[in-house]
Amino acid sequence: MEARTPSESLAILTDFVLTGETNSLNNLFGGELLARMDRAAGIAAGRHSRRVVVTASVNHVAFNKAIPLGSVVTVEAKVSRAFTSSMEVYIDVWVEDRQSGEKTKANEAIYTFVAVNESGTPVAVPSINPQTTLEKQRYDAALRRKQLSLVLAGKMKPDDATELKALFVS
Ligand SMILES: CC(C)(COP(=O)(O)OP(=O)(O)OC[C@H]1O[C@@H](n2cnc3c(N)ncnc32)[C@H](O)[C@@H]1OP(=O)(O)O)[C@@H](O)C(=O)NCCC(=O)NCCS
Repeated sequence: MEARTPSESLAILTDFVLTGETNSLNNLFGGELLARMDRAAGIAAGRHSRRVVVTASVNHVAFNKAIPLGSVVTVEAKVSRAFTSSMEVYIDVWVEDRQSGEKTKANEAIYTFVAVNESGTPVAVPSINPQTTLEKQRYDAALRRKQLSLVLAGKMKPDDATELKALFVS
């Protein structure tokens, strides 16, 4: 399978925050943002693998900034690293200032998707070649995030998480 670049998987979802999507402070409800990020990330993982993909794990979410009712929100998702059947997808969330049009980073998240066949069995995906400095940084750190996720899920013994352990042992 031919390797692809992260940009080839880029998925961008732009939408308003409407009533019914907010919490009692009139800011975007966290679960609604998780769903938007899941959709964008699923599209990115599907573009990279050209397969049916399922969400295997939400590895990290940071709700750094509240997003008020009426905001224009852009969710950008790109595959940051592809393993055998799984892909790490990095998601950046931006809020647009209505007057200046300037976009401010509000949140970010990292999801893992797995490509599957018609019976839900994992299948291999193309590898990925990061191009930009940021893409390379995200690619490099993805293996230890995968190991952390697997350890937390009870699917890997901490002793086998070599990349993760290397963070703590000089
Ligand atoms: C995700 C799923 C396909 C994994 O199936 P599995 O039988 O555990 O398969 P494997 O153990 O071979 O794992 C497949 C890949 O997923 C990765 N993976 C599994 N769980 C993971 C986790 N918690 N974090 C990170 N990666 C994970 C494995 O490391 C493996 O990656 P690799 O092939 O790139 O090395 C399966 O658990 C599933 O279908 N889950 C439900 C998905 C779903 O319905 N999501 C929607 C939300 S309800």
